[in-house]
Amino acid sequence: MNISPLKKHDLFFPENSGFQKTEILFYTGKQNLLTLFSSNEYSRNKLFVTDTNVAPLCKDFISHFTEEPAEKINAPACYKKNGDALCILPAGEKFKTIETVLKIADTALEASFNRNCLFVAIGGGVITDMTGFAASIFKRGVDVEFVPTTLLADVDASIGGKTGCDFGSYKNMIGSFYPAKKIHIWDSFIQSLPQTEFISGLGEAVKTAFLFSPELTEIFRKQKNEILQRNEKVLQKIIEICGKEKSKTVHEDFKEKGIRAYLNYGHTFGHALETTAGLGVISHGEAVAWGMGRALELSKNKKLCTQEFADECKAILSSYGYCTDKIPQAVKSTPETIQSLICAMHKDKKNSGTKVKVTLQSGWQTTLTTEVEDKEILEVLQ
Ligand SMILES: NC(=O)c1ccc[n+]([C@@H]2O[C@H](COP(=O)([O-])OP(=O)(O)OC[C@H]3O[C@@H](n4cnc5c(N)ncnc54)[C@H](O)[C@@H]3O)[C@@H](O)[C@H]2O)c1
Repeated sequence: MNISPLKKHDLFFPENSGFQKTEILFYTGKQNLLTLFSSNEYSRNKLFVTDTNVAPLCKDFISHFTEEPAEKINAPACYKKNGDALCILPAGEKFKTIETVLKIADTALEASFNRNCLFVAIGGGVITDMTGFAASIFKRGVDVEFVPTTLLADVDASIGGKTGCDFGSYKNMIGSFYPAKKIHIWDSFIQSLPQTEFISGLGEAVKTAFLFSPELTEIFRKQKNEILQRNEKVLQKIIEICGKEKSKTVHEDFKEKGIRAYLNYGHTFGHALETTAGLGVISHGEAVAWGMGRALELSKNKKLCTQEFADECKAILSSYGYCTDKIPQAVKSTPETIQSLICAMHKDKKNSGTKVKVTLQSGWQTTLTTEVEDKEILEVLQ
């Protein structure tokens, strides 16, 4: 039996990228991983990678590999069945390490998989990033597909081929460009997300709205209640718009030499906050949303945007509960914290030299990248 997606969208990579396309497939209803991956199309060896929070959501699938109750599995745990393997990892950013990536590769090695095998990530951005990275280095590259299970992975992390893990307490310091062949999206996974994770994912979707989509900006302005109640139809719309917008950007600039840097809006500040707070303390999307608030202040100070524009954007951010203060309460506003934030911003992968590269907006869907001095950053942090 085959299951058919409701909609499909192809992300085509540039000709010289070495990759052809990612098929983004949108399904409705409850996930049916067992049926999907039992079809003839998937007759090769598969390594499924998930985490301890996602495994209980896919009980039928997990019980195909083990009789252990999904809730009780002590990760990391690996199982084999009929030529396939399942690797269940501990959940969360804390485990987004090179050791965990190597655990994924080791599971495939232990199962004697060759280059024709397929890796499948079932999880949030941590699992898709690490599984994509492991797929890119296992036997110099095997195919990978994603089943994103968080809103953040639906709207952003699973799309576009950036893979990797954290290193030396810095976010995503090692990795590769290695896109999934297919992304299978079941928005129903979002219903079980803890509220903080849901709000985290929304942060990246708001970013997409500000950067590219007047339609999505209107949805965020006018449909707050439906969004916060996780209305299926509205979520499907948000995911679809984000997928299409990110696809366009990645198609134009796969290796981030130009416009893909716009996707870093809020991220230079946001990553620095995540590092300063300690990885995993503040969710990625919340950090990004705070970062957009700081970027708006910076833009206003540099007279690149009007006060009115900055205020309107910040009003949308705060209406969804995002912090628009100079320093979030989760980290104390001390000289050490501010120094640590600036130091982390300098360590961001995109920077070289003495200035910090930031993405700013001068108006709705009007974006630029520029370099700023430490004293300009200080002004928006203290
Ligand atoms: N590659 C990219 O382009 C890109 C873009 C943005 C973010 N990212 C990365 O994505 C990561 C953040 O992604 P994330 O927020 O999905 O993190 P995550 O994978 O850690 O998931 C968040 C939490 O939700 C749990 N979870 C997952 N699905 C669930 C579900 N359906 N119901 C209940 N719980 C569920 C997870 O176990 C985890 O505890 C960061 O590491 C970030 O760097 C990558």
